[in-house]
Amino acid sequence: MKILKDRILKDGRCYPGGILKVDNFINHQMDPILMKSIGVEFVRRFASTPINKIITVEASGIAPAIMVGYLLELPVVFAKKKKPSTMENMLVTSVYSFTKQRSYDVCVSKDFLRPGDRVLFIDDFLANGNAAKGIMELVKQAGAELVGMGFIIEKAFQHGGDELREQGIHVESLAIIESLDNCEIKIR
Ligand code: G4P
Ligand code: NA
Ligand code: NA
Repeated sequence: MKILKDRILKDGRCYPGGILKVDNFINHQMDPILMKSIGVEFVRRFASTPINKIITVEASGIAPAIMVGYLLELPVVFAKKKKPSTMENMLVTSVYSFTKQRSYDVCVSKDFLRPGDRVLFIDDFLANGNAAKGIMELVKQAGAELVGMGFIIEKAFQHGGDELREQGIHVESLAIIESLDNCEIKIR
């Protein structure tokens, strides 16, 4: 997706440890015009897949997910990172974050992820794929079906995407970062 790649090259910043900062248009300040184009591109790439629900993880996945849900006129569910004390009926699993070097729980209510649901997962980053695996686990617990995964940015050098594709999952990433070595952004 050319406008996304150009924007990453223009406004993305490299940090030690292979971190790409995109705070200027995705992770802190957001660009809704670009985000709409991202939504349109996801819709195009999953056009042949029957979907009835979009799922993401709070917080940064919500913006692209809502764009896709808006365009397809489908509900958008975000997995929460803290179990709300008022919610019964929760599906929960643990996710290990390499970036933060600790685990956190992600949870979703059984009311909003149901047996038979055909779910598309949308998120901002695919790195090691642990968040994605957590979502796969929740979808499985619910008896729903994961029909695809869409990421704005995939970091190919962390190989989460390879693992998901080897499992036969339809993965689409709109920009694939080959390397951030020497703080130079190399996009496929
Ligand atoms: P994984 O899910 O692919 O295994 O990745 P990891 O545990 O390393 O990522 C943890 C968090 O860091 C996730 O966001 C993920 O989107 C984000 N992340 C991973 N690599 C990068 C990167 O190079 N740049 C940026 N900006 N983010 C990255 P999160 O903690 O769930 O936070 P948020 O969604 O609330 O922003
Ligand atoms: Na995220
Ligand atoms: Na993030």
